Amino acid sequence: MAQRIGILTGGGDCPGLNAVIRAVTRRSLDRDWEVAGVREGWRGLVTGSLEPLGRREISGILPRGGTILGTTRTNPYKVDGGIEKVLATLEREGLDALVAIGGEDTLGVAARLHGEHGVPVVGVPKTIDNDLSGTDYTFGFDTAVTIATEAIDRLHTTAESHNRVMVVEVMGRHAGWIAVHSGIAGGADVILIPEHPVSVEDACRQLAQRHAGGKDFSIVVVSEGYELTYETGERKLVAGEARATDQFGHVVLGGVGDALGREIEERTGFETRVTVLGHVQRGGTPTPRDRVLATRYGLKAADLAHEGRFGRMAALHGDAIVDVSLEEATATLKTVPPDWYDTARAFFG
Ligand code: F6P
Repeated sequence: MAQRIGILTGGGDCPGLNAVIRAVTRRSLDRDWEVAGVREGWRGLVTGSLEPLGRREISGILPRGGTILGTTRTNPYKVDGGIEKVLATLEREGLDALVAIGGEDTLGVAARLHGEHGVPVVGVPKTIDNDLSGTDYTFGFDTAVTIATEAIDRLHTTAESHNRVMVVEVMGRHAGWIAVHSGIAGGADVILIPEHPVSVEDACRQLAQRHAGGKDFSIVVVSEGYELTYETGERKLVAGEARATDQFGHVVLGGVGDALGREIEERTGFETRVTVLGHVQRGGTPTPRDRVLATRYGLKAADLAHEGRFGRMAALHGDAIVDVSLEEATATLKTVPPDWYDTARAFFG
């Protein structure tokens, strides 16, 4: 009987998901495996919603953003009888292997299912936030940084024309990777991230010094997870008002840019405008770098699955595609280390 492999995409969508689906499917079909697409992440295994994937279904999807399989933030551990249902679906569908494409939440579930129930799963590291341990880069990050950098470049010219401070709020959750990379690439004058919280007073001093030195516009990049931090030691996380957390316990972030913009204008007197990039950073076609990375990850994941090397995740170390333990990759978040922030800081003010 033919071997059967399932593919699921979970968590926030991300440019490059379809490139992974295509690569896993192509390699599996080449080896005469049957391929099943799981609808909407872990939800599809809870409800038993799968569909066959063949060459026709994956044709033309390489450059397409989003995911042809759909995605949700469903956590089967938080659904009544969720794990039993997942196990029953795997059994009923006769899946010999499963490729889970996701970030810390989706892959955290995969690691647990493998550890606790021996589910034959391998992982692929996806997230625009780049906050997964065990890999140098996740796919989707390069696209998000490219979009944010282009936005910063555009804001530069309007900031300059109007002598304004432009605050740009970028995504990244509790890691400042997008802010640091796009901020360095776009020549930001101040970059604020959760890991190394520069105070509001200090940020305003940097801007005042810059303007005193003859510049009359500035670009400030702030990561959505940055807590407004004051010299008194007070810190405020700005999150979506009173909205419930998701099934993984995450608050909906967003809004720090507006709060920061008001503070800057009041404290410095410089006219300030705020741009929140939001989901634009996640939409649309992946960059060539992300297409290539996603493709290499997909082939590696298929190889791991076909070789029966479960509980592993495809990863990038330097320029090599390797595999690491899913459990270790999901144990801690990969945040921005001080030396990366120092590179950004060298151009403040
Ligand atoms: O994890 C990816 C991400 O885009 C984060 O940067 C952001 O905080 C979150 O997802 C937004 O989630 P949602 O799409 O549910 O609004």
